[in-house]
Amino acid sequence: MSSKLSLKQTTTSTPLDMLAHNDEDLSFDEFDEINSPRPNNTDFDTILQQAITRRGFIGGVVGFGLSQFLLSNSSTSQAAGTQQSIFDFEPIKTNSLDTVTIPKGFSWQVVVQWGDPLWSDGAPLDEKTGGTAHSQSRAFGDNNDGMSFIEHNGHNLLVANNEYINKRTLLPLPKKHRPQTTDDVLKSKAGHGISVVEIINNGGKWDIVKDSPLNRRITADTPIEITGPAAGDPLLQTKADPAGVEALGTFNNCGNGLTPWGTYLTCEENFNGYFSSSDKNRKTTKEEKRYGLRQKDYGYNWAIADERFDMAKHPNEPNRFGYVVEFDPRDPTSPIKKRTKLGRFKHENAEVVIAKDNRVVVYMGDDERGEFLYKFVSRDIYVPGKPTEKLLNKGTLYVAKFYDDQRGSWLPLTPETTSMSEAEICIHTRLAASKVGGTTMDRPEWVAAHPEKTQIYCALTNNKNRGKKPNQGGDETPVGGPNPRAQNLYGQILKLEPIGENHTDTQFEWSLFALAGNPTIHHGDMAGSENITPDNMFNSPDGLAFDTRGRLWIQTDGKTTNKDDFAGMGNNQMLVGDTNTGQIARFLVGPKECEVTGLCWSRDRKTMFVGIQHPGNKGGSHFPLGSNHSPRSSIIAVTRDDGEPIG
Ligand code: FEO
Ligand code: CA
Ligand code: CA
Ligand code: CA
Repeated sequence: MSSKLSLKQTTTSTPLDMLAHNDEDLSFDEFDEINSPRPNNTDFDTILQQAITRRGFIGGVVGFGLSQFLLSNSSTSQAAGTQQSIFDFEPIKTNSLDTVTIPKGFSWQVVVQWGDPLWSDGAPLDEKTGGTAHSQSRAFGDNNDGMSFIEHNGHNLLVANNEYINKRTLLPLPKKHRPQTTDDVLKSKAGHGISVVEIINNGGKWDIVKDSPLNRRITADTPIEITGPAAGDPLLQTKADPAGVEALGTFNNCGNGLTPWGTYLTCEENFNGYFSSSDKNRKTTKEEKRYGLRQKDYGYNWAIADERFDMAKHPNEPNRFGYVVEFDPRDPTSPIKKRTKLGRFKHENAEVVIAKDNRVVVYMGDDERGEFLYKFVSRDIYVPGKPTEKLLNKGTLYVAKFYDDQRGSWLPLTPETTSMSEAEICIHTRLAASKVGGTTMDRPEWVAAHPEKTQIYCALTNNKNRGKKPNQGGDETPVGGPNPRAQNLYGQILKLEPIGENHTDTQFEWSLFALAGNPTIHHGDMAGSENITPDNMFNSPDGLAFDTRGRLWIQTDGKTTNKDDFAGMGNNQMLVGDTNTGQIARFLVGPKECEVTGLCWSRDRKTMFVGIQHPGNKGGSHFPLGSNHSPRSSIIAVTRDDGEPIG
């Protein structure tokens, strides 16, 4: 047995370490970890026994070679020499600068940033106050994440999720940056949701079109229809909506998706962080615990001005969040619909493909340690020009089960397999998936489908609890299969290939496209897979998207300390992967303390839009306006200086 594969001490923070931080510095999953600690082993003998078992297991895997799980790694270097490179740029080095860095021969510009007014009755952002509820409701929201470019009747639309708010900059004045007044709460809610903004290219410079009739804001207060099997279920009924068919708002909209019929899908992720209980003796139910709902919210204080966020008074309100939401951005008055059939969990994105038989398949990750990967297969087929309203309401939801022999199955979540009603499966999807024995994953983030091959890629961002703690439902998180490293610090990118090149098939094969790591300070599994080198290393892959040339763009949301386990990795970044050879090259480095997330292209493919989210979320950036300015989440446009398409 190789000693390099024994249990490794890492620098991962413990919940106690994190409590010492200002809580506004905590990420959502850190907050969940503090408020919902997983059962932890304290018995030394048990820990030792597990360690031995785990070492034995890893040893077994490595005995066959961990690389057996890796995509065509044996051919990686040879293939690189014989195939023409798909990297039409000179890869860049990592850095920790407070700006965007891209290769020579490319340029970038800011298109839109948090607080930019979309209508002339809005006001420019007042950085001292973070604006008002009114100014925010008329402006681009905060923390842009997943996004799409849509061309409609000659107009160019950017549709972007505004995942959450940066408390330091949106609420700079209130104590601990927590809302103290109704206006604070309304401003916070208006910073969330979705922004639809028309943009225009004026001689190479992208500008927003103020007052465009297509501009739209959807916030945490916008009425949204609840559709699918859970609509009207008693679990969704509230005092304000006794029929259980209309929710107010969508928030924590993370990744996205686009349907072939032109609608936009926006995915509700960490919805639990907005709910609190005024009754400190209220007992949290098993279902609430599974979704991270507790007595305390994540510092949002929405309940002080909007009672529906008080679970003691409105226990069903949280059941109305955690869904995929669909609307048509081409019509600013189009209805907005929650699609309960796609399940309720911490949705990352929704990757839509049309199967051979024209049924609609949606791949979706649940981004929490030890949660699952899902897919939905529609009952009906997509016929261009025919009604699409019901396509995402009827079908089968599956959870992925992985086997160590690189095969896997999609397990259906039905009343027969779960002993739950159809509506309960839609509302308490995590519990249903546990019942059938889905594989607990290392935080599934974005899923991307290859444009020409029947292949699916999923970013498994990291999981410090792997092999150490069960998930919130008590499901074990053993080391193995697509989650091969204990206390996984760096993350990996998984590849799935449906059997028979058929997205509706319930069987698949899997491999790992990349196991992130740091080959400059580690050997063995912590160094990462063969295609991870000192020149391209990164941690915590998150956003994934293919371009039309079949190149896989990889965005990161990881540690940016640039030291210890993360030495030499610099700021968060965007890389390009060649899924034929396994090669990976770095294209972009973001500013300080940002996450790079959200990616789309103009119709002529000459502009690539990239999301820069929460620069300076710990107070260390002035991106993009420079010193004396608050940092602002932004969408940037990247172009080639020779004017050629960029993907
Ligand atoms: Fe909003 Fe899992 O990222
Ligand atoms: Ca993400
Ligand atoms: Ca992430
Ligand atoms: Ca994020």
